[in-house]
Amino acid sequence: MDARFIRNFAIIAHIDHGKSTLSDRLLELTGSLTQREMQAQVLDAMDLERERGITIKAHAVRMMYKANDGVTYQLNLIDTPGHVDFSYEVSRSLSSCEGALLVVDASQGVEAQTLANAYLAIHHGLEIIPVINKIDLPSADILRTQEAIEKAVGLDATDAIPVSAKTGQGVAEVLEAVVHRLPPPKGDPAAPLQALIFDSWFDAYRGVIVLVRVMQGTLRKGQRIKLMSNGKGFDVESMGVLTPKPVEIGELVAGEVGFFVATIKTVSDTKIGDTVTDEEHPADSQLPGFEDIKPMVFAGLYTVDSHEHTMLRDALEKLRLNDSSFFFEPESSEALGFGFRCGFLGLLHMEIIQERLEREYELDLITTAPGVRYHITLTDGTVLEVDNPSRWPEPTNIEAIREPIIKAQILTNEEYVGGILKLVEEKRGKQVNFEYVTPTRVLLTYELPLNEIVLDFYDRLKSISRGYASLDYQLAGEWVSPMVKMDILVSGEPVDALSIIVHRDFAYERGKALVSKMRELIPRQQFEVAIQAAIGSKIVARETVTALRKNVLAKCYGGDISRKRKLLEKQKEGKKRMKRIGKVDIPQEAFLAVLRVG
Ligand code: GTP
Repeated sequence: MDARFIRNFAIIAHIDHGKSTLSDRLLELTGSLTQREMQAQVLDAMDLERERGITIKAHAVRMMYKANDGVTYQLNLIDTPGHVDFSYEVSRSLSSCEGALLVVDASQGVEAQTLANAYLAIHHGLEIIPVINKIDLPSADILRTQEAIEKAVGLDATDAIPVSAKTGQGVAEVLEAVVHRLPPPKGDPAAPLQALIFDSWFDAYRGVIVLVRVMQGTLRKGQRIKLMSNGKGFDVESMGVLTPKPVEIGELVAGEVGFFVATIKTVSDTKIGDTVTDEEHPADSQLPGFEDIKPMVFAGLYTVDSHEHTMLRDALEKLRLNDSSFFFEPESSEALGFGFRCGFLGLLHMEIIQERLEREYELDLITTAPGVRYHITLTDGTVLEVDNPSRWPEPTNIEAIREPIIKAQILTNEEYVGGILKLVEEKRGKQVNFEYVTPTRVLLTYELPLNEIVLDFYDRLKSISRGYASLDYQLAGEWVSPMVKMDILVSGEPVDALSIIVHRDFAYERGKALVSKMRELIPRQQFEVAIQAAIGSKIVARETVTALRKNVLAKCYGGDISRKRKLLEKQKEGKKRMKRIGKVDIPQEAFLAVLRVG
């Protein structure tokens, strides 16, 4: 299609402001879906996404829209994931667009994620149309929302469009605005091919499906292509667009968005942000912004029932087919047996994988405390990469330890700055910048150890700011830090799966908090259980779980057998996620206790 009649756009919003509902309305209004096909929130395809109310994978839908000027336009709506773990995917999705709808809930106003997303869109040079949603609510305040958009985001909101994605009011104006206010894509269909990969996944029937935005040139069925990051060549077998149903087409020209299937066997060959070019007539350069994404957070995954180990491996292999940003290798623990060391983009990514394993594959899992990857220089000069506390070298052999550092941008309201400064200091942060972006909004830039972020930083930031702080971060090198391994002993025995790596100066405090939390989490047993935190042979903290006195069955008077059975059932239920270590039953929560202290 002539690029003048193409519009590529994303919808960006704070969580729950109505992004998915508005997407559905746009699909409905353009006739992309009939009422019968219309299933609420089609863009959030996976159950998990729906339940958690966040979009995990980016998708793209092509809609044909006959505008009031009588011309039919091709609108490509590109969905973006809404979490910092996936910010690289978001940035690649936004790079595929010329414009964005910034949706703001009229009853809530501008919120942290509104700003973070709007700034990201501005940074990518996108034209932004503010959309004020939920005007059907009695508490909607259009004028105030407009003012907030102007003051906090710095966008002209005079032409913001008031809508109700729920009732459909105003949604037609949104489509007209997309056509008339957003610029068409640029790019020469005759130039050497440059197509940006912004998503890819494995489909059991069709193999690897790659979503691309063609920036220059033309991508054709049958073409021999090359992926510029790894030089690998493939043949394009079929291609098409999602409407949202897949529809086959013969080519995608500069400016267009669609998918292709080639002779690609594994999804890890199709890296997000990579450039697809023609093998015979390649483009001179790769598109800017490509990064090889690496896992940043590591944890051990074990099955509660050791017989399920092979099932876990099969499930991990299946998940990995679809998610190349996730990594795993076998590991074993004295306490937990055979399991896997897994690497994730961040904590949410870890939770999602864990939940999918439990829900889709019905596995009961034990996850160990998440940590990061350290570079350790030994006294003999060798450098080790260590992401597992059980591989931590003897302290006497360590020359220096380097830990990964991030540069974090925290955007918040003035009134929460005090609390946040305290938190970042406690988390060993170093201030880089402190800036008022409006008279009441502050942008803090800090360098922080990633280790501290993966523990409980995000949750604490949210609670301190009552949700009114957004966090964005990038890796920013390493610090040399005096890290030590802290072991946890249960009844005098070290439990390897409970060991964590901490900064020496914080070890005492953390050890105390950790054993006290464990004492709460480990249920009372028939005997007394000592819980100790130790660094080397030095005990830094100790707590005791006192012995259980009464037998549960003693609670049942007489011979009420059904009641007895119920109690036993209940006990069994409670045991489900416990792992017996030595003589002690330790619940899953205890392995993650380190996430809950602080
Ligand atoms: P995330 O996927 O979490 O980012 O949320 P979202 O921005 O996609 O929000 P979603 O569309 O799921 O809407 C959140 C809630 O607001 C849902 O319960 C919707 O039914 C409701 N909602 C969306 N638009 C409107 C509206 O115009 N009016 C009213 N009253 N409710 C709305």
